[in-house]
Amino acid sequence: MSDHVRIFDTTLRDGEQSPGCSMSMAQKLAMARALDELGVDVIEAGFAAASPDDFAAVQAIAAAVRGASVAALARCQRGDIERAAAALEQAAAPRIHVFIATSDIHLTHKLRISRAEALEAAVAGVELARRYCSDVEFSAEDASRSDPAFLAEVFSAAIEAGASTLNVPDTVGYAIPAQYGALFAYLKANVRGIERAVLSSHCHDDLGLAVANSLAAIENGARQVECTINGIGERAGNAALEEIVMALRTRANHFGVGTRIRSERLYPTSRQLVSLTGSAVARNKAIVGENAFAHESGIHQHGMLRHRETYEIMRPEDVGVSRSQLVLGKHSGRAALADRLKALGFELDEAALNQAFAAFKALADKKKEVFDADLEAIALGQNTGEQGPWRLLAAQIQGAIGRDAVPSASVRLAHEDGRVVQEAAVGDGPVHAIFAAIERATGTPVRLTQYLVRSLSTGEDAQGEARVEGEVEGMELRGRAVSTDVLEASALALIEVINRAERRRIAQPSAEAVA
Ligand code: KIV
Ligand code: ZN
Repeated sequence: MSDHVRIFDTTLRDGEQSPGCSMSMAQKLAMARALDELGVDVIEAGFAAASPDDFAAVQAIAAAVRGASVAALARCQRGDIERAAAALEQAAAPRIHVFIATSDIHLTHKLRISRAEALEAAVAGVELARRYCSDVEFSAEDASRSDPAFLAEVFSAAIEAGASTLNVPDTVGYAIPAQYGALFAYLKANVRGIERAVLSSHCHDDLGLAVANSLAAIENGARQVECTINGIGERAGNAALEEIVMALRTRANHFGVGTRIRSERLYPTSRQLVSLTGSAVARNKAIVGENAFAHESGIHQHGMLRHRETYEIMRPEDVGVSRSQLVLGKHSGRAALADRLKALGFELDEAALNQAFAAFKALADKKKEVFDADLEAIALGQNTGEQGPWRLLAAQIQGAIGRDAVPSASVRLAHEDGRVVQEAAVGDGPVHAIFAAIERATGTPVRLTQYLVRSLSTGEDAQGEARVEGEVEGMELRGRAVSTDVLEASALALIEVINRAERRRIAQPSAEAVA
């Protein structure tokens, strides 16, 4: 068995089920393709039995992905396993991932079954999954709070029943590195047949230790890590894929094992996820945050100029972050754009490149200098697979300054069902007025929880990025848009929130959520 660390990406399952990160089927497909391109070993595409939509998404990803294995999650229940198997029928390398809790707290209060019953269900689940698929993973939910001896007994039985990957979730983010690492060492020594299986970590970040715990697991024999792009996931999130990969690479002298990830795709993949979900990463986020490679202090800059390694342990280009700033202008051609996009990590197909070029020309007409950040926004716009139903046709804003002034806005929106709606509203300011007009036109009130605008590059004509977070009928949703006009960006970001709400309403909420 190869000694590399397998990267099991669960962005589309554990990540996607967290608030603000839900994706449409087209978006999930776009993300799955990006993950395949990144070089992950396994893509967990979803929980097929949760809803018809989840099933369709797993099925579409299974049919599209040809490099990575595609996994579907299932409880140790016949219905779930059969749905997972059916959704994976067209996968080149399918994996069924079955799970059941093993901690006493989950057995007593959630499942209300005994340890013996959990063991029996685990074995039956693995055996049934093996009838459909030669690659079966077994997860012991809440493993880090389970009795290690019982866990070893369940894992031994799961191997005997045919599981080839055994996952040790720290479901509630309770573990600390030394203890989680020791649990792997214990399992290595006490699970029968462990030499025929891969041990896997799955960490949540409630104590901010998900990556540290995953690395401790690797030090103690784990050869699969479950993680997500940007660390998105339930509550505080899952272990961040990019941090684990770069820790293993940067400290290869310590760990002595690597991954098969194309690290220069890390940043573009991270940006793609942000663009698809509207869920931003913190500026100071390791590896993919905006400040991750920025040196502000004079002393640091001076040191960097003399010798890069004084203050830099990784090269930005190794994770796909470009150092160059000023790039193309109005007279640049299609080939120059394709070249620059490629250097930024975006290889667009013919049709997407044509669209990107049209968008680039339109932007270059509006602003003198087109920066990498602008190009990235254009490229991501081509990749999102984002759809309506609402589209902004026109907006007019009447700004006003002074005590008695009343800013107003009118908007014209088209719905994909053929309606064209026009509405006007007044507000405390121009943004308030345009938001009120959009909400009135679409008939969708949004309770705004966050609104941010920032400049993507420099100069008076820089593009502005607007981010809107809001609640619609109890759903927490996000939208993001970019334009040289911040009011237009704001309007488009709010429309994205409303579109997400409408698409979710149509799709029906999922039948069940899992850990
Ligand atoms: O956190 C968890 O326990 C999970 C399992 C279903 C693998 O996500
Ligand atoms: Zn989880």
